[in-house]
This record gives sequence, C-alpha cells and structure tokens, in this order.
Amino acid sequence: MCGIIGKAGIGEVMPELIKGLEMLEYRGYDSAGIAVIHNEKITRCRESGKIINLREKSENNREELTGNVGIGHTRWATHGKPTVENAHPHISNNKKFALVHNGIIENAEEIKKALLTSEEFYSQTDTEVAVKLISKFYKTDVISAVKTACKELTGTFAFGILCSDFPDKIFATAQGSPLVAVKGATGCWITSDLGAINEKSGEFYRIANGEICEISKDSILFYNSEGEEIKKSPERVSLTEETVNKGGYEHFMLKEIFEQPFAIKKTVLSFADKNSIKLENVNIPDEFFKDKLERIIITACGSAYHTGLIGKHVIEKLCKIPVNVEIASEFRYSEPLINENTLTVFISQSGETADTLAALRLCKKYNAKTLSIVNVKSSIIAKESDNVIFTYAGKEIAVATTKAFSAQLVSLYALAIFIAEKRETISNQKKQKLLNELLSLPDKINTTLLKTTDKAKALSKKIYKSTDIFFIGRLYDYGTACEGSLKMKEISYINSQSYASGELKHGTISLIENGTPVIAIGSNTEVFSKTASNIAEVKARGAKVFLVTDESEKDASVFVDDIIYVPSTTPEFQSSLLVIPLQLLSYYTAKRLERDIDKPKNLAKSVTVE
Ligand code: G6P
Repeated sequence: MCGIIGKAGIGEVMPELIKGLEMLEYRGYDSAGIAVIHNEKITRCRESGKIINLREKSENNREELTGNVGIGHTRWATHGKPTVENAHPHISNNKKFALVHNGIIENAEEIKKALLTSEEFYSQTDTEVAVKLISKFYKTDVISAVKTACKELTGTFAFGILCSDFPDKIFATAQGSPLVAVKGATGCWITSDLGAINEKSGEFYRIANGEICEISKDSILFYNSEGEEIKKSPERVSLTEETVNKGGYEHFMLKEIFEQPFAIKKTVLSFADKNSIKLENVNIPDEFFKDKLERIIITACGSAYHTGLIGKHVIEKLCKIPVNVEIASEFRYSEPLINENTLTVFISQSGETADTLAALRLCKKYNAKTLSIVNVKSSIIAKESDNVIFTYAGKEIAVATTKAFSAQLVSLYALAIFIAEKRETISNQKKQKLLNELLSLPDKINTTLLKTTDKAKALSKKIYKSTDIFFIGRLYDYGTACEGSLKMKEISYINSQSYASGELKHGTISLIENGTPVIAIGSNTEVFSKTASNIAEVKARGAKVFLVTDESEKDASVFVDDIIYVPSTTPEFQSSLLVIPLQLLSYYTAKRLERDIDKPKNLAKSVTVE
C-alpha cells in the first residue's frame, strides 16, 4: 500500500506535501517522509509513526525544507521495521536522487547483492535498491536511467523521483501500482489518490504500466517503456473537497457508522425506484442472463468478501444460479473453471486492491463477463471492468469499513433483483416487495442506529475484558457474523472467531469456557430454530450468549443472556440491519480499551500489495 505525493508548482511545497500525506494516511501510517529540492540540493525529513510526527519535525526544520518541488510518502511496512532509517524517501549515495515507492520489488535482495560492491545500503527496505539502480544507470538523462533500472526490477512498483540536476522536475513511473499525474491551477502533481491534492479541479493522467512521466510546474510529459515521448489525453476531474472532518464525532468510524442511512439512500436511489432496478453502467444483454449464464463468481478481500458471503445466498435464492465466493488473493493464483458464460463480480471500496485487480484481469483472460462494485469512481478496477455498479458511500476515512460495506451489500441486493427479473425467477409481487424493502432500508438503518446504540454500548462493558469472543450464524447470518468478528478483532485487538453455527461443535467448541462471550446472529429464517439449538449447546458449556436478531423473533423462546433487536425486513436484506449493532459493539469495545480506533495497528485501508 503506502501513499505517494509529489508537487512541482508555485509556493512552498512542504506544507502541501504534509497536507497531502495526511489525506493519504489511510494507506499506511508506520512512518512518513518528504524530500524537497532547493538550489540543486535535496533535503529530506523522515519520522516514524503517524504524519503528525512528521508535521512537527518538518515545521521545526522549515527553513531547510524550503522549495517548490518535492515528494512525500506515508509507509505501510513490507520490508523492514517501521523505523526512521526505513522511511522513504530513500536517496542515492551521491545524494543526487531521492525516491519514494509504493509496491514490492521482488528481486530486491538479488539486486542488492550485485550492487553491494559499489553502493552502501542504509535500510532493510526493498526500495533502496531502486534509487541506487537508477543512480547507477544515470549519466545525463533521467528518463533513460529510470527506463533501464525498471527493466531489471520485478514485482509491483510506483515511484516518485527527484534528481538534483533537474531541480524543477519530478519523475515518476508505475508498474502494477496506482499512480496518477495531475495538472492543476497551482502546479503539477503525482499522487496515489486524487483526494490528496490541494486543487479544485484538474486534468489527470493515469501512469500506465511501464510509462515514465516527467512533471514540472506547468507541464506533464510522458514516455513509453522504451523512453520515447508519447501523447496522452487527460481525463478531467472535479476535486471538490469532500467533508473529511469528524463533524463532532470522536472518531471517523463512529461518524461513518452514523452516515449509513444517507450513504445507503444515495446508493439505493442511484439504481432503484419503486418499479425497477436500473444499472446504468451494466451493459450485458438480457439474453445472457436468461439463456447463457451458468454461474456467478464473487471475488473480493476483507469486509468486501463478507458482503459476497451474504450476497451469495441472496442471489442463489432469487436468481436460481450457483454462486461461488472467492478470496481474491487465493483466486488469482488458481486455475478457475470459468468461461464466457460466467459472470464474475469484484467488490472493492477503494477499487485498487491489488489482489482483486489481479483476479479481475485473470477473469478477463478467460473471457468471463466482469462486473465490479466500486466506491471510488476513478479507480483502476472501475476502469478495467466491463460493467460497474458504483456505490455512493462517500469518502471513508476509518480503516475499518462500515458505510462502504453497507453500500456494497445493497448493491448486491440490487444486482440479485436485476438478474432475477431477467431470468424470470421471481414473481412480480416478490419483486415489488423486495423493491419496497430496499427503498425503506435507509430509514430502517436509521431506526436501528437509534434503537441499538445504547444497547451495544452497554454490551461492550460486559465483553471488553474478554480474551476470546465467538460470533456465530447460519447462511446470511454467517457472513454477518464474519463481518462482526472482523470488526471486533480489527479495532479492539481481542481475538475473535466467526463460525457457521453448526460448525462450532466440530472442534472449537472446546474453547468455550465459563463466561466466554458468544454473539449469535439469528435472523428470521427457517433456520432460526437451528441456531437456537447451537445457542443452547454453547450455553450448556458456560458461554455468555448475546443474541442479535430482528423484532419478528420477539416471541421466540431462546435462552440467552441478553438480546439486541433490530427492525425486521425481508430475510434477504436482514443482514443490512443486523450488522449495525455489531459495528457499534466493536466500536464501543475498542473505545473502552482506548485503542486507536480509526487507525488500528498494522493495518491500512487500501491494500495495493499482494
Ligand atoms: C483492507 C481494509 C478492509 C477492506 C479490504 C478490501 O483490508 O482494511 O476494510 O475490506 O482492505 O478493500 P477494498 O478497497 O478492496 O474494499
């Protein structure tokens, strides 16, 4: 992952770099650094920990860091500990080059061995070899040196490079890692994410694999992997600032949990009205769904994968078509049994998760139909997919996703209704009922927030000292349990496991001891009574069971320690409401433990390495 920013423009660049890095901090926050060029000399400033540390150090060294051209980096460590020595930018021994990197150089050790006779190394990173290699090949032409160096590197990388012989320029290149160049009103930029630059609008260019780009204050030039200049057409983008303050909430996560009614309304209204689902960026002929579609494969990572686990049951139930859900990092290295009659669905908030992108590219090779559910419109997954459903969760800052998860879930519901209609596998009456429920979800999420916040807060008091927590559920509820468990361990650091309710007795029920919390998810489906039996099994072994269910189960006789009720909706969509108290529960548990809720340790929001 890691975030890159660079600017050649008017005005002091240091504050712009720091501000940009703060916007990129979601990509990693182990350490950070900047390098600025002035009077043909490169000065860098690096610090371990969050950007706030770098901000303080840079402001104390303001005079040394004067200049209009510079690059910055926020790191999520892959090679080497998060120390100052391993923080980027890295520099060449003659101090002519400074370089920032996002990605992984796979043959770094090999290259390092070869370079050790002529160069000294000061870090354990894979990045340092890149700057040393470029410096080795440099005579007078940076483009040529970058070109030659990159040919020796394997893996994925995006580089931002300064050379003191060209004090008004930044050079950049990319190979499998996202990086864009932007021409704005105050200068030209390179960035991992358009949201990080301080411009209202601009022309932007994606740096494609192997391309090298040279930016100065008012121009962006492109070269192909052979070093020949090429012309590229810009894409236009409006960069109107989205609200990124906490709006009175103590943490972004809590704010984003409470933004869900709005985020879901915006997403639902983008494709649903009371009569139908319209997916304006899906251009698959009706006949495909009716006569050709043989199976659907959903591929994603992390929480997005959990939406797939839930979506599978919704789609199978409504569309009568088999659905497999695959972890992208596994699927990308498999030999999938797919063909042109397979619909492959990729779910990604960021639209840039490396494994999900690789899975998408693999499916395209097999001529499968590709469809992505993506939150970031300008992202690479959105661009490379033949069909897209955009979610409208808005910018999500907290590393632990909440509103983007919920927006992905409703998009899968919409896709299920859309396909079921084409395949004529649901009646008109059923479709009507589903659409009504879909449209009423934002209000029901609002009610759920109002009704369950205090309950979740109170429950967190009962569980926050636990060392292990179990989450169990069946079918739709299993995916919800997985998400509840991930949220809990991600931000509270309490070990938690999710289990398909019936599976617990095949081993790990032995871990249930007196007082072990078990959060049971039990929605109103035919299998509620089965979950109730599993609850009895763990209760009998001393577990403290907390049931999260919907109001239609109010009369069910199930013996638990406490119950959180959410409003009822159709069983297919119930997960959207059941997950809300689980998000709140993990939030309040982590808060009691005084964790860094928005930036949990060792994680990053956008995972652009495999
Ligand atoms: C990271 C985030 C998760 C997210 C996953 C997939 O692990 O912490 O919240 O679900 O990546 O990200 P994507 O952007 O592809 O949805």
